[in-house]
Amino acid sequence: MVTVRALRAKKGTAPITMLTAYDAPTARLIDEADIDIILVGDSMGNTALGYESTLPVTIDEMQSRTSAVARATTDALVVADMPFLSFGVDEAASIEHCGRMLKEADADAVKLESGPHTVELTERLVQLGIPVMAHLGLTPQRVKEVGYSRQGTDRDEAREILELAEAHAEAGAFSLVLEHIPANLAKQVTEAIDIPTIGIGAGAGCDGQVLVIDDVIGLSERAPPFARQFGDVKSEMEKAIEGYRDAVTGGEFPADEHSHVESDLDKLY
Ligand code: KIV
Ligand code: NA
Repeated sequence: MVTVRALRAKKGTAPITMLTAYDAPTARLIDEADIDIILVGDSMGNTALGYESTLPVTIDEMQSRTSAVARATTDALVVADMPFLSFGVDEAASIEHCGRMLKEADADAVKLESGPHTVELTERLVQLGIPVMAHLGLTPQRVKEVGYSRQGTDRDEAREILELAEAHAEAGAFSLVLEHIPANLAKQVTEAIDIPTIGIGAGAGCDGQVLVIDDVIGLSERAPPFARQFGDVKSEMEKAIEGYRDAVTGGEFPADEHSHVESDLDKLY
C-alpha cells in the first residue's frame, strides 16, 4: 500500500509515477500496473464529462468518480482533485468539501490548485488529518485569467512559484504538482523543498511525473504538446464499435452460441 509517508521517502530515491483515472476499470488497470498515485483529476471535465474546461466540475461529480476509483484500487494512493470554488472561499466549507472526499469517497488525500490563498488552508487540512497535494505553475482553474500558457517564464513569476512551493511544503503538503513551467525552474523548486515534486510539462528534473490517462492511451481529442501517447485505445474502440454495428446490421450477431432456446416455448400459438 502506498502511503503519503512512503511517497515522501521516495524523493531523491526513485521516480514517482502518477496517472489520472475517472472510473473503476481504468483505476483497476493503473493499480495493477503498480503506479504509485491515481489522481481523480478535475481534468475529468475535459475528458470523461465532455466540458470545455475544468470549471463546471462539481463536488458531487468529484465525489462520485473518486468513490469509483477508490473501490477499484488496492495499492495506489488515491488523490481527489478539489473542483473550482470548492475550496478557498470559506474555511469551514473548504474543510467540509475536502473531508467528504476522505469520509465518503475513501480518497487518501486531496489536491488543491495552490496560491497565496491556500497556504493557511493547507496547514489546517493537514492538522485535521487530510493530506494535501499542492499544485503550482499552470493551474487550469485560472483559465479565464491566464489561459493555458506556460507559467514562471520571467524572474518575478519564477520567484513567486519558488516561494509558494516553499510555503506549501512548510504548511505540510506531502507533495507538489508542477505544471507547464520551464524545466530549469522545476529543477530548482525540486532541489529547494523536501517534499516530492511531480511534473507535467515541467521537464525531467522533478521527483515524479503525471499525465492525463486519455493522453497516455490515445483517447483524447487533442493532447497538450508536453504529453506523450503510449497506446492507441481510440482505434481499438472504433474497431470494436464498428464491428458490433456491422455484425448486427449484417445478421451475424447474435449467432447460435449467443442465444438460448427454451424447449417449452416452442409452440405458443
Ligand atoms: O486534473 C488533472 O488531471 C491534473 C493533473 C494534470 C495534475 O490536475
Ligand atoms: Na486538475
